[in-house]
Amino acid sequence: MKRRDWIKNSSLAIGATYLSRASFGNEASAEKASFESSHGFTNLSINENQFGPSPLAVKAIKDSSQYAQEYPLGGQARLKSTIARHEGVSVDQVILGAGSSDIIMGASSVFGLGGGNIVSSDPSFGPLMMWAKKFGIEHVKIPWTSNHGIDLEGIEKAITSETQVVYICNPENPVGTMAGTSELYEFCKRVSQRCPILIDEAYLDFAGDVDKLTMMRCVREGMPVIVLRTFSKAYGLGGMRVGYAVCQKELAAELSDYYVTGIGCGCSHVSLEAALAAYHDQDYLKSVRERTAEMRSQTISSLKEKGYEPIPSVTTFVLVPIEKDSKAVADAIFGGFGVKVSPRFYYEQNFLRISMGRPDQMAKLDKALKIIL
Ligand SMILES: Cc1ncc(COP(=O)(O)O)c(C=O)c1O
Repeated sequence: MKRRDWIKNSSLAIGATYLSRASFGNEASAEKASFESSHGFTNLSINENQFGPSPLAVKAIKDSSQYAQEYPLGGQARLKSTIARHEGVSVDQVILGAGSSDIIMGASSVFGLGGGNIVSSDPSFGPLMMWAKKFGIEHVKIPWTSNHGIDLEGIEKAITSETQVVYICNPENPVGTMAGTSELYEFCKRVSQRCPILIDEAYLDFAGDVDKLTMMRCVREGMPVIVLRTFSKAYGLGGMRVGYAVCQKELAAELSDYYVTGIGCGCSHVSLEAALAAYHDQDYLKSVRERTAEMRSQTISSLKEKGYEPIPSVTTFVLVPIEKDSKAVADAIFGGFGVKVSPRFYYEQNFLRISMGRPDQMAKLDKALKIIL
């Protein structure tokens, strides 16, 4: 039997056994949740922060739950002004969303409704383009550079009078690489004279000193640049759904029109208190960054020992090219070991995107990879 067939068959066989044991969604998975995750399996496929939130955020969640009857007006005002103070902008330049996805959804309407095009690297984090395309906008895709970077030159050349916005995910998901800070800043200075730019910095907290790496400076200098951030990744609050954007106030007002509810934003009172507490605990953030970097370097070394060439990453995930069918491999890892990774296929090449987890979770994955890859 060919190896690929074996993987397919074994994935089905082992997967069936695993599913009958864990049956996600029933009582057995609820038991499992108490020691592993609420998913009932080890999820290394969606870039959650497996180290979890700061203990101060957990305390804020518990403490604030007693005010669950209140609309979240106070929390919104406090979080906005804390962010504005830190970034050196005015409060009306900060918008909050139920996750940064919420703001991306608003942006897809603002930029998509008039037609034209969006230019982005490809592959990139897709929702802005996916949602805007529903309004009839065209997506102009610029492939990676040969070393898996964002082709800023190619993106700039592709901009036309029809371009409504340029989307730059920095660091880039799913690749894990990052544009040079001064190169990106110079790009923003030139390109923002032609069209707005949305810089998605969801993974910047993992890359190093955020205040040095961010493009917030472009906003402070008056450029039509939207910098998008989230509490879902390094802050470990994916389930709380809090994200924010910082941009010029006119753009902030326009974006808010498309997704904000009557009482400000879609975040709950409890979520906002959690985000505020997490934002103030920079020591914990640093420890997450360090632990993630350690897991990343171990994962990369271990993949290299197995003969693979993972793409260097500054984020909480690693993209590794593989020869076998990535979907069959991911199914086999999940079926046999209860570990979920994300199968990808770009430019005729199979990849696995592996999110970093805790040491015990990465050890489980390592064992799976040794057998299945
Ligand atoms: C690059 C990027 N931006 C934004 C998001 C959205 O995250 P959230 O809505 O949880 O803030 C994600 C989620 O995976 C992401 O990878």
